Amino acid sequence: MKIAAGADHGGYAIKEAVVRGLRSQGHEVIDVGTDSAETSVDYPTFAHRVAAMVAAGEVERGLLACGTGLGVCMAANRHAGVRAADCFTPHLAEMARRHNDSNILCLGGRLLSEDEAWAIAEVWMSTPFEGGRHQRRIELIELPEGRA
Ligand code: RB5
Repeated sequence: MKIAAGADHGGYAIKEAVVRGLRSQGHEVIDVGTDSAETSVDYPTFAHRVAAMVAAGEVERGLLACGTGLGVCMAANRHAGVRAADCFTPHLAEMARRHNDSNILCLGGRLLSEDEAWAIAEVWMSTPFEGGRHQRRIELIELPEGRA
């Protein structure tokens, strides 16, 4: 799969760990930064870069990390068609894929070890979307005014 990855300083280390894992499985990863944990940067910058690539269909999936996963998730979900999910257990990652067809995984670098982050990412990458009634529901996400 082609995947875009981004993080702020708080998510840098787990972004690096998960990107290594994804590449070792043969995925093509476009890393949009940041490139260090030492310099404080603004998480929306990286969230918008990744989310724009997912929304435009330039990549199939996105990976984002910040201190908690919350900020990048909020920013990414402003993009139409993006379903970013902040997952802090493998079960959440599984459900985000099965029911929500999540296309961006958000991770909290100050909450998760690198091993925990990779375990969550592996489940998220390998779990299919169930479709069916869930397809209708994800389409309704794009209609905040209500049913069409
Ligand atoms: C940066 O200190 C921190 O606020 C950020 O990484 C993230 O946790 C925001 O949601």
